[in-house]
Amino acid sequence: MMCAASLASAETVWLSSLDLKRMTSGWSVPKVDLGVAGKPLSIGGKQFARGVGTHATSKLRVDLGRKANRFFAQVGVDDSAGGQGSVEFIVAGDGKILWQSGLVTGGKPAVPVDVNVAGVGVLDLRVTDGGDGSGSEHADWAEAGIEMQAGAQAPTALLPFETFSLRTKSFALEFRVGDDGRLYQNVLGAPDVNEPPQRLDEAYPQWGDGYIWEPALQVSHADGNTSTALLYDGATRTNEAPDRELLRIKLRDSAYPFEVTLCLRAHRGRDLLEQWIEIRHHESGAVKLEHMASSALLLSPTNLHLAHFFGDWAKEMQPTTELLTPGTKVLDSKIGVRAHQFRNPSFILSLDGTPSETSGRVLAGSLAWSGSFQCAFDHNGRGVRALCGVNPFASGYTLAAGETFTTPTMIWVWSDQGLGDMSRKFHAWARDFGLRDGHVPRAVLLNNWYATGFDFDFNRIVGLFDPAKEIGTELVLLDDGWFGNKYPRVNDRAGLGDWQPNRRRLPDGLAPLAAEAVKRSLRFGIWIEPEMANPKSELFEQHPDWVIAQAKRELELQRNQLVLDLTRPEVQQFEWHIIRDILSVTGISYAKWDCNRYLTQPGSSWLGPHRQSHLWIDYVHALYGLMDKATKTFPKTELMLCAGGGGRVDYGALRYFHEFWPSDNTDPLVRVPMQWDYSYFFPLMSIVSHATHSDNRPMHFGCSVAMSANFGMDLDLVKLPPEDKAICAGAISAYKRIRDVTQLGDLYRLERPHAATRGALNFVSSDRARAVVFVFQLKDGPVLPVRPQGLDASRRYVVRELNPELGRPGLATEGKSIAGEDLMRDGIVPSCSKALEACVIELAP
Ligand code: DGJ
Repeated sequence: MMCAASLASAETVWLSSLDLKRMTSGWSVPKVDLGVAGKPLSIGGKQFARGVGTHATSKLRVDLGRKANRFFAQVGVDDSAGGQGSVEFIVAGDGKILWQSGLVTGGKPAVPVDVNVAGVGVLDLRVTDGGDGSGSEHADWAEAGIEMQAGAQAPTALLPFETFSLRTKSFALEFRVGDDGRLYQNVLGAPDVNEPPQRLDEAYPQWGDGYIWEPALQVSHADGNTSTALLYDGATRTNEAPDRELLRIKLRDSAYPFEVTLCLRAHRGRDLLEQWIEIRHHESGAVKLEHMASSALLLSPTNLHLAHFFGDWAKEMQPTTELLTPGTKVLDSKIGVRAHQFRNPSFILSLDGTPSETSGRVLAGSLAWSGSFQCAFDHNGRGVRALCGVNPFASGYTLAAGETFTTPTMIWVWSDQGLGDMSRKFHAWARDFGLRDGHVPRAVLLNNWYATGFDFDFNRIVGLFDPAKEIGTELVLLDDGWFGNKYPRVNDRAGLGDWQPNRRRLPDGLAPLAAEAVKRSLRFGIWIEPEMANPKSELFEQHPDWVIAQAKRELELQRNQLVLDLTRPEVQQFEWHIIRDILSVTGISYAKWDCNRYLTQPGSSWLGPHRQSHLWIDYVHALYGLMDKATKTFPKTELMLCAGGGGRVDYGALRYFHEFWPSDNTDPLVRVPMQWDYSYFFPLMSIVSHATHSDNRPMHFGCSVAMSANFGMDLDLVKLPPEDKAICAGAISAYKRIRDVTQLGDLYRLERPHAATRGALNFVSSDRARAVVFVFQLKDGPVLPVRPQGLDASRRYVVRELNPELGRPGLATEGKSIAGEDLMRDGIVPSCSKALEACVIELAP
């Protein structure tokens, strides 16, 4: 950068005094006071003492700070071209042409230029090849100077393209506008560039007019033209809050009234970007969107690793990491509803090889979309483009003139200090924006699902309330099976869709049950699955056309059920009435919203023959409409998101929810790594974890694992042996003591549990006065210290094991006050070393 000195009086700054490294030249490099060939400046036989020699095509952008009066020069083809060459000189100010020379040929005398540039911010000096190729186009800006106003900052040479960036604390996304008017992105992780961008670098590439790789946008215009050519049309910035900025970059097609706005919201302190796209047009008819990615970031391909998460029912969120190599790696879902059963739309890109918790540049991506999605990583050798958004597969969307299509939001979180820092930023954002009531620690919940399954009645459920209260539970939830009369919901084969309480099980409905809970100062919650129907239901008998199905095909059931067609207005109304009526029952303050199948026969009798491909998108929008209404109508009702486990875990739905059920697999041995993997993106306060009898693990181990997340139980407390009850009560009491730290504090993942002997993590309160360390022994192992992180080195902490397991020796350091520095360096030897033992340690003043 040139030093920005002020000028004492109106004075000329010679062009040759600027930083000419920022000037482009079609051949060689621009020369100070010489022609581009290195000989004295000479035009039409006349020599000039000063000026700049360059070669078409050439460009120099100068920041005048709106404080210049004139630009003047003598221009022409330098005599070193031997009488050859033809060029055009152009002077532009803030994008408008102020002067152009017309064709200037070799051997002709210099042409004078003297332009008023008062009020101009950016002066643009260009030399074109005159339209006839660029051989021998030696072009001189002789005696070129800028007359500045008195007191003005000296002008400075800018990068040769209009550039702008979106910056956060340690991340920057840089854009350039090319000479062709298109918008380009500087490759993330690559060195700074001063060369003209290539089409490969387009910020939001469109198909059909030259771009040959995987596009972000593909459109069929109203007249059938399948190409789009978006040109930069300005950007606006809004400071939404001291730490938050919204950048809106407008692009418009060069030939159609079709525009695209790239929206980027930067949360500066958290290095987090939210990105989405708005598409609208005023063409003579509808246009068809075939690809419409939410984001298309371009990264350097060098040593770029992708960590992603796959799975299935009861096996969600299994991690795998791979080096991205040339070709396109696609992570996607084509199942529309419960769309994340096999893959979560969250991933981590690591720019420095396999990522570590404490070092390396990492970029987490998470698509806030509960439907079919696609994240494609298109590696073409020069860069990797991460295209993320709704899955374009079979999802063509017809957009009428004047309407706006808004893509789902893609969330990006950057860290140059590894995965731990990345997650802490993500969690802080989630508590503020991604979840409901993200600053309120969650209640301890008792569910009946693993205790009773479908086999219960009023008395059996009420029978759980006293023991629940006794051990410290705060909330009881009645799961599936409480409704249906003609077709009672006594198993998963019938009744779904008929939301009247079953008269045999609950003769007076839900309210008396809720009242029994409330009487004991317990909150009461209820299970719903509003999007589904069993064929064996009154609902299906009355409205067989309300389900998603393909005409002429035999109905394909999953868990004996079908998905209701939420694109149909009557279905939207029906589902809303169900939700409204249930959540209005006095005493209900919690609901678990389940969803137990995905789409395999995506046909809608509502959408008609030409809009079947809208199903995937319209369904999700209608679903969000319902969720939104539910949260607005029942702002105090807490909601758990569930889809047969973790089949719908994303920030699109989560903004209406407080937490999610990550898996029907509650085996703590499975949950330790699974919760670790979810925690890359989701704070543990949102990850519901219940102690159950699953796989008969020791109760102490199960409770310890569950209390590291959003703690609950799913146990038949009536039958629970007293020693296990005591362990549960101890765990609940400990959890209540620490939940502000574990749920609102910072997470440090310490020892990765995958295929390991143990796993460990710790949480630190925001004032760093308190911390909690969890050690989970997965196999027998040596007794080794666990080293917490994130403590205040200079503070002292009293070490105390919480809810210690009876019969095991306690901590050697129990009750000792130790400096944070020593704890982090030397660690604490936990009380566990055998498989299925756990140790929870509080560090407090
Ligand atoms: C699937 C959920 O994941 C379970 O927790 C339970 O609610 C069942 N559905 C009930 O049908």
